[in-house]
Amino acid sequence: MKVQLAIAIVTIALSACRTNTSNSITSAPFAAEVDSLLSLMTIEEKVGQLNLYAGSWEFTGPVPEDVNNQKKFENIKSGRVGAMLNVITAEGTREAQKLAVENSRLGIPLLFGYDVIHGYKTMMPIPLGQAASWDAEVARTGAEVAAREASASGINWTFAPMMDIARDARWGRMMESPGEDPYLASYMSKAWIEGFQGGNLSNEATIAACAKHFAAYGFAEAGRDYNTVDISMQTLYNMVLPPFKAASEAGVASFMNSFNEIGGVPANGSELLQRELLKGAWNYQNGFVVSDWGSIGEMITHGFAADTLEAGYKALTAGSDMDMEAHIYENSLEELVSSGKINEEILNDAVRRILTIKFQLGLFDNPYRYSDVEREKSELLTKENLQIAREAARKSIVLLKNDNDLLPLSKEGQSIAVIGSLAADKDVPLGSWRAQANEGSAVSVLEGIQGAVANKADVNFAQGYTLTKGRRQFIYELEIVEGDQSGFAEAINLAKKVDVVVLALGEDCWQSGEGRSQTDIGLKGDQMDLMYELLKVNKNIVVTLMNGRSLAIPELDENIPAILEVWHLGSEAGNAIADVLFGDYNPSGKLPVSFPRNVGQCPIYYNHKNGGRPTTNPHDAGMVFWSHYTDSPNTPLYPFGYGLSYTTFEYSDLKLSSSELNQAGEISASVTVKNTGKVNGQETVQFYIRDYVGSVTRPVKELKGFEKITLKPGEEKEVQFTINNETLSYYRADLSFGSEPGKFAVMIGGNSQKILMTDFRLVD
Ligand code: NOJ
Repeated sequence: MKVQLAIAIVTIALSACRTNTSNSITSAPFAAEVDSLLSLMTIEEKVGQLNLYAGSWEFTGPVPEDVNNQKKFENIKSGRVGAMLNVITAEGTREAQKLAVENSRLGIPLLFGYDVIHGYKTMMPIPLGQAASWDAEVARTGAEVAAREASASGINWTFAPMMDIARDARWGRMMESPGEDPYLASYMSKAWIEGFQGGNLSNEATIAACAKHFAAYGFAEAGRDYNTVDISMQTLYNMVLPPFKAASEAGVASFMNSFNEIGGVPANGSELLQRELLKGAWNYQNGFVVSDWGSIGEMITHGFAADTLEAGYKALTAGSDMDMEAHIYENSLEELVSSGKINEEILNDAVRRILTIKFQLGLFDNPYRYSDVEREKSELLTKENLQIAREAARKSIVLLKNDNDLLPLSKEGQSIAVIGSLAADKDVPLGSWRAQANEGSAVSVLEGIQGAVANKADVNFAQGYTLTKGRRQFIYELEIVEGDQSGFAEAINLAKKVDVVVLALGEDCWQSGEGRSQTDIGLKGDQMDLMYELLKVNKNIVVTLMNGRSLAIPELDENIPAILEVWHLGSEAGNAIADVLFGDYNPSGKLPVSFPRNVGQCPIYYNHKNGGRPTTNPHDAGMVFWSHYTDSPNTPLYPFGYGLSYTTFEYSDLKLSSSELNQAGEISASVTVKNTGKVNGQETVQFYIRDYVGSVTRPVKELKGFEKITLKPGEEKEVQFTINNETLSYYRADLSFGSEPGKFAVMIGGNSQKILMTDFRLVD
């Protein structure tokens, strides 16, 4: 086998290299092995390692016009390809791996990348939903399951986690994001990376992760996916980059460029992002940067490169190591390096990074170690995996409203009408980035409820509305049904007869995700009409709201007594929803994004600036000269961090250990939280600060910590947060990181608006 030849060559070269004391063996993992292999490679073979091809049988991006399978096969066989995406299954990846290792001169194994975003076969909640758990355990265990399943199916590299800050609900990819806050996004992203990589890539049940999209992809103007981005350096450094820096510190194996530009420079060509920050200031040495699909070529469309040669030159020199499906590197780099326009050391650096990950994954020990048919048979969709998915799903649910304690429902003696096509849907809960989930394999809301009640006859279903028609697939536009009210009568008749209605409303999973931006973020089709009709005959309505973005739902909030935000919860959606509906699990989720009142408020986020005219002067009541809308409040419908429980919590006694802090010291802030209700409950205690005056203006509030506590009825607990220079530091006017003396507010509460507040001074 060729790979054995490559390993033998590497070993010989390695021992030669080790005897040569002048040859530096750095502390980077496998540095010597990588260097010795590199020394055997031709320029063509080196460029080969930088090419990422899509398996031509599945696409997650625009199909290249000149796709030529035969040429692709030949290139893989001749070592001109370093990695593939969208090639799956133990058998499929083994076949593709064989092409590379048994035919190419050095037999260097391929990486197999795939979008394992919130699960592979067993689906976890969409990332936005997981972020609502504010629970690292949810992220970590979910990613562990995904890695175990994907790695059994031949995948050794996932294009996750996505850590783009999302402030604009029009943007379809909000579903894939950990939300609007950099602290929470960093916290969840680190846990996802830990879960995927397990701190040890050589374990065959783990896979390499990818921090994406580097950077500011979530700031697409007007929330339109792939649109241009215009962002200040302060927002970039303080809001967008922190999760990426955290990912680099957590040892993420790769980064993915974003499609957008930063200050007129497409991310692929950004020296600032890649050379100065990532590979410079952050000292990211042992992983590589991959482009997004075709994005190196798109630098030409952006108007940043004139042709293939310039695009290849700009992307590689700026630090983009691997080309996903643009075929720019394969058509430019050999010429650029051979002619001396690009120094070969730049190419070597990119190759080194990619080979390092291949060594870490153990591919040089056994290139087929992830392509194990037996393991694939036993690892996918196991009971254990589904149990983890159910746990994650119930922790991700957010209770938005619960007037008169309509929830929890009782399992006995209550007749229930389950209404809405989304209630019986077994596919929508799987979400938009569903990898290899079996179509229609989720537990529906209806099934979950039927499985939970004592007597199935107490539960009846009516479809009510139809949400979509036609094909429902990742790559195609979705068609929404408008004006079909043929199912209303049956639903109304059913609602008349029952004690309570569980009405499933929301979005199809293909309304959010890549390329699925919307200008309307309300409930589409005939859903609202049905809601009003049902209210005429039964006021006891619980809405389960399935969606991949924050929605504008003021009419629901006004009219419906109980609302559960259930996102797209994955394989176990219905069971988890039933757990919460019937009180087997007391909801504990908190919103990771603000819910606007209307689309006109977008982008809306809690950590905004104050501006010069934030509020009306009482003497000027009725005048217009303050920052507001004439037809809507400024505030969101539900703020960031918001979420109710079946019990209630009271916050008191906010105290600081001192009202002064010097830059080398630390103080603590504490608060007492009491369970004032009747059942056990979990609360996420949130800690925010405000820096009143800075060398640049600072947000009105920034999350700096949180703690989840569980309290019995009547029980109280003191929760403490430490404040030191790090807590107060930010990227200042000159982009240096540090704090500035002055007055700071400390705010602690159960969401970003309902909060206790005090202040202290930071002194030199
Ligand atoms: C484009 C998406 O932006 C990216 O997130 C994804 O990983 C690639 N396509 C590959 O499917």
